[in-house]
Amino acid sequence: MKTYRYENSQKLFARAAKVIPCGIYGHFSPAPLIPTSAYPFYVERAKKAHFWDVDGNEFIDYMCAYGPMVLGYGYEPVDRVVREQVSQADCTSAPAKVMVELAEYLSDLVQGGAWSYFAKNGNDVTTYALMVARAATGRDRIVRVAGGYHGVAPWTQTDDHPGVTQADTSNNLTVQWNDPEGFKQLVSDHKGEIAAFIATPYHHPTFQDSELPAPGYWKSVQEICNREGIVLVVDDVRCGFRLDIRGSHAYFGFQPDLVCFCKAISNGHPISALVGVESLKNAASKVFYTGSYWFTAGPMAGALATMKELERVNGPKVMQARGKELTDGLADLARSYGFTLKVSGVHSMPFLRLVDDETFTLHQDWCAECTLRGAYFTSHHNWFLSVAHTSEDIKRTLEIADEAFQVVKKNR
Ligand SMILES: Cc1ncc(COP(=O)(O)O)c(C=O)c1O
Repeated sequence: MKTYRYENSQKLFARAAKVIPCGIYGHFSPAPLIPTSAYPFYVERAKKAHFWDVDGNEFIDYMCAYGPMVLGYGYEPVDRVVREQVSQADCTSAPAKVMVELAEYLSDLVQGGAWSYFAKNGNDVTTYALMVARAATGRDRIVRVAGGYHGVAPWTQTDDHPGVTQADTSNNLTVQWNDPEGFKQLVSDHKGEIAAFIATPYHHPTFQDSELPAPGYWKSVQEICNREGIVLVVDDVRCGFRLDIRGSHAYFGFQPDLVCFCKAISNGHPISALVGVESLKNAASKVFYTGSYWFTAGPMAGALATMKELERVNGPKVMQARGKELTDGLADLARSYGFTLKVSGVHSMPFLRLVDDETFTLHQDWCAECTLRGAYFTSHHNWFLSVAHTSEDIKRTLEIADEAFQVVKKNR
């Protein structure tokens, strides 16, 4: 197979570095894509589960825009609805009717949900969830899980990061994942001070294996929260609609008070949602929280169409099956070359790691060799499956991966 070259990407990046801090910042920064020379930096177009970069290279995309793409790029049944809504009304002086329809739909769909509040990004709703919890309880502190990602607002970071002050994080308490005893201890040390516990449905940090909840974990956390009047917030921004269409708490069998959605909710159209239980609606209505574009109707229509389509095709089941097909195939291939490929998390959002080299270099090299041949694999982050990934895509991916294993085996 011919390997890709990225001349146009690199030229664009050189221009970008002069006029944009970091050239490309945030989660799209090339920094963790090691070696960066193996990765494209700019996309020209995207369709179904594929994208083409500015050098004309085609990739099967296993990052799905880091989550938002769930039905496929340019998915016409959703995009048509968005275009129709935008041609009628999008950013206007009052909300469109579709906002009510979407909230009604989510109340029926999401297990335990009674109301919805819409914004744009995941961080908008994780932050709002904590404000609602504080308004409801009159308490200041929150408990979060070490290494959990909830966005980029100062409270989500640690105060050794530039631009973050101690005051920004002074109300945060931290507990380890899967440690209900540690949580119980924190609660007893800070009796009556904790407004909320926030965590993702399962633990999916970067550069590390993902960890599912241990049996009974969520039930214990829920029980402590209910007993102590602590608001239980699930950050379903990344997992939402890839595990269970009713929310990932339905998949793991517990009931939070607030659930944060974003990523997959509208197949790439910008919208996030906080869905809450009835008893917190009054507190939610007291918090002043809004944004210039939070009422745009196109993404709301897109969300409604995306949810209905995911329900119709049983999206989470399809993605889990596709992910299993992919990761089983890759693990078998690895074995045939004498390597061990560890798969963690869930099949629709797997984290993979070649465990034969503790420095991560082997895994980085293998992901890079796959990307250079058209299977877009990052080494530091969980991957994402979509409904648009076909068995043909997976077959082609396994051919690419096979050749990449040959290369890394030879180089070792
Ligand atoms: C679990 C989780 N929470 C919150 C966020 C923040 O979402 P956003 O980047 O849309 O603000 C992310 C983004 O990756 C996430 O994965």
